[in-house]
Amino acid sequence: MNIVVLGAQWGDEGKGKVVDLLSRHFSIVARYQGGHNAGHTVYAGGTKFILRLIPSGILQPGVSCVIGNGVVVDPQALLAEVDELEKNGVTVGDRLVVSDKAHLILPYHRELDLLSEARRGERRIGTTSRGIGPAYEDKIARRGVRVGDLAQRALLEEAIRHNVDARNRIIRDSAMDWRVVMAELEAAWTRIRPWVADVSLYLARARAAGRRILYEGAQGTLLDIDHGTYPYVTSSSASVGGVCTGLGVGPRAIDGILGVVKAYTTRVGEGPLPTELAGPVGERLRETGQEFGAVTGRPRRCGWFDAVAVRYTARVNGLDALALTKLDVLDGLDAIEICTGYRVGGAVTGDFPSDCAQLAAAEPVYEQWPGWAAPTRGLRRYGDLPAEARRYVARLEELTGVPVAIVSTGSGRDDTIVREGSLAEAWVA
Ligand code: IMP
Repeated sequence: MNIVVLGAQWGDEGKGKVVDLLSRHFSIVARYQGGHNAGHTVYAGGTKFILRLIPSGILQPGVSCVIGNGVVVDPQALLAEVDELEKNGVTVGDRLVVSDKAHLILPYHRELDLLSEARRGERRIGTTSRGIGPAYEDKIARRGVRVGDLAQRALLEEAIRHNVDARNRIIRDSAMDWRVVMAELEAAWTRIRPWVADVSLYLARARAAGRRILYEGAQGTLLDIDHGTYPYVTSSSASVGGVCTGLGVGPRAIDGILGVVKAYTTRVGEGPLPTELAGPVGERLRETGQEFGAVTGRPRRCGWFDAVAVRYTARVNGLDALALTKLDVLDGLDAIEICTGYRVGGAVTGDFPSDCAQLAAAEPVYEQWPGWAAPTRGLRRYGDLPAEARRYVARLEELTGVPVAIVSTGSGRDDTIVREGSLAEAWVA
């Protein structure tokens, strides 16, 4: 039983917590795309962990964590994260596996990210400035440097020297010294080397041995390079297709697909967000939900649940079930709205537009539901939720066409409801 857990909105849905919860029932957690632009927040044993590159499964003893070829790896960021975990009593040791085919984020990628944003001006994307886009650009342009290249000193030196010189010509006033870049990589390699492997082979053998694998997505489907709100997206395949290309596994290696959604909507960075609330309700969601970027600290834009968007991401991913997070953030609201359609050019549609400009012009059509007075925070049984909260969940299921299998009612590992009779019961068996 191998499952995918991915974001079905614009990222920050609470995947870290869901993966942490499920991973104790799996033997391997594998990341397939993105880089340290991700920020998966998990509260475990009273400590707050923010995982960027290493799968959230690392917090469960005995779980092996894989960084696939679809991920872009900043060696310094990876080692800093390992050090941070070990400092907090989490032993990484031989539980980490890093693909030799994963591409490296190098110092010039970070500079290029900043430069590109500055040049875009008004049209900037609002990236996390971690060098993610430029690293994927080099990968697609076939001039990237991969983790496995670190083992071949002469070839690596040639590539680094050539790439740094080329970037120095692009970045005005930059005089990056390739020798410094090289020295840093060599130092990192001595620590990274034991973790490097052929991930496709590793996972095939693990499956043959009956080990259970959880494939962990980063960001969200609406930030996917192909299916997201292009150009306001990240540069990787955050939807389910990324599992196969980013790890070297076939589609039949997937038995279930869980989409994580917040009980409302957030987005960080630029780009359309039809249900965005600029007034006091948006502010309340941001404060109560602590909606500030885990990586950059930027305030997240907040709005009502967008059922049009989630119905779309359910289709793109073939979602089997939803994990609904942060339901408790809605506690105490008099009324709650759900976006059921968009008014585009005078007509109402239930289909998510492919064109970003059309989405930006779309006016949300809402239906209103009563809120609930009794708190849901920390509840662990579905039947204990106030009737209005259950009705809200049922309506989201109807509108998105996907059953809600897991409800999260707080940030703690155990503030979670796994619904009886849902698919998730088999995943935690
Ligand atoms: P990049 O991935 O740094 O290139 O940023 C591209 C877009 O994706 C920006 O709008 C970022 O705010 C957004 N983004 C990247 N990573 C995350 C994430 O983990 N959560 C939410 N948004 C993200």
